[in-house]
Amino acid sequence: MPGTELFGEDERREVMEVLETGILFRYGHDELRRDRWKAREMEACVRDYTGAPHALAVSSGSTAVACALAAAGIGHGDEVIVPPFTYLATIEAVLLAGGLPVFAEIDDTLCLDASGIEAALTPDTKAVLLVHMCGAAADMDPILELCRERDLVLIEDAGQALGAWYHGRSVGLFGVTGAFSFDFFKITTAGEGGVFVTSDEARYRLADSYADHGHDHVGSNRGMENHPIIGFNYRISELHAAIGLAQMRRLEAVRSANRSNKAVLRDRISDLSGLSFRRIPDPDGDSGTFLDLLLPDRPTAELAVESLRAADVPGINYWFTNMYHFINQWDHVKNLDSAAPLAIHSLGAPQDYRALELPRSQDVVGRLISIGIGCSWETGRTERIADDLRAALARVLG
Ligand SMILES: Cc1ncc(COP(=O)(O)O)c(C=O)c1O
Repeated sequence: MPGTELFGEDERREVMEVLETGILFRYGHDELRRDRWKAREMEACVRDYTGAPHALAVSSGSTAVACALAAAGIGHGDEVIVPPFTYLATIEAVLLAGGLPVFAEIDDTLCLDASGIEAALTPDTKAVLLVHMCGAAADMDPILELCRERDLVLIEDAGQALGAWYHGRSVGLFGVTGAFSFDFFKITTAGEGGVFVTSDEARYRLADSYADHGHDHVGSNRGMENHPIIGFNYRISELHAAIGLAQMRRLEAVRSANRSNKAVLRDRISDLSGLSFRRIPDPDGDSGTFLDLLLPDRPTAELAVESLRAADVPGINYWFTNMYHFINQWDHVKNLDSAAPLAIHSLGAPQDYRALELPRSQDVVGRLISIGIGCSWETGRTERIADDLRAALARVLG
């Protein structure tokens, strides 16, 4: 959990600055806040780091995805292509927007790829919600070409991928809108938080209003602001933004430590026969949060997980059986169980989710083991983990 590994004086100072004024709200109260605007500063840091022309800090990565969908014009009855390997928030956001998720295959990049998207297209497909999984970018060029050719709206859920780039461009900026998460488990954390990004000022304005009950944020009297659209409360608090801001300043150092620790682990095992790695189309753009191993088949992967756990290798994730990240465990989604009726209940699902076959995704995720990389590991610790990793995998791979 890179962000929280480096949590210290800067975070405390930023939070104290908010507590000293008592202005926990991100808008207004100009005379009391002593010019402390943590959400605004966090947004400026995200703009500076990613190059995004517009950034809006919100209450979570999930609400950032909701803003990305809304500001991209996705709503009632729109078919949106999604991956079966992601965090549940991606799918929930489409359903709660009134959209209809259409699952497509991922490939060995762990993300949707152009061929998987193309195979899932229907005459009603409106958008692709691309997820950059495990800290690295999808294979963007073919995806961008397909979206252009087929007139698809591209939206990026970069919840797990702040600090990931594709040939010099930050994830989140390829689509019309994008979203980052700052939850407790991310490369930078705010405790809870997220950031919406876009290059399009009109879409930024929409998200800015949508995330705050439709307020237009014009003028200095909040009570008298106009409401051009219906929105909801997705605001971030100044306390969370204060932490997110301090963490943004650490991002490049965290990324660089991740990458060098990951390289040590990877180099130590790269000659093991039968082992391969997740394909990263732009290796220089990897944020380094995970080392993703691909074993020859699922039974071998299951044995490897046991061996790695027995050897106390830290940060082992086997997503195939994890309850959050892979479609096999999402019975409630397949059954469309929800607290209140959704558009999909009246319109019908675009696919029979219970009978859905995604053999390529099943194969890739069944063979995948992701190792969370620590950014605070010292050289000796990284070396020991690399040794243990090699020994544990060698016991299985022979
Ligand atoms: C791909 C992806 N999207 C969205 C989210 C939701 O972010 P949050 O937990 O900040 O709501 C996550 C969280 O793990 C995620 O991994």
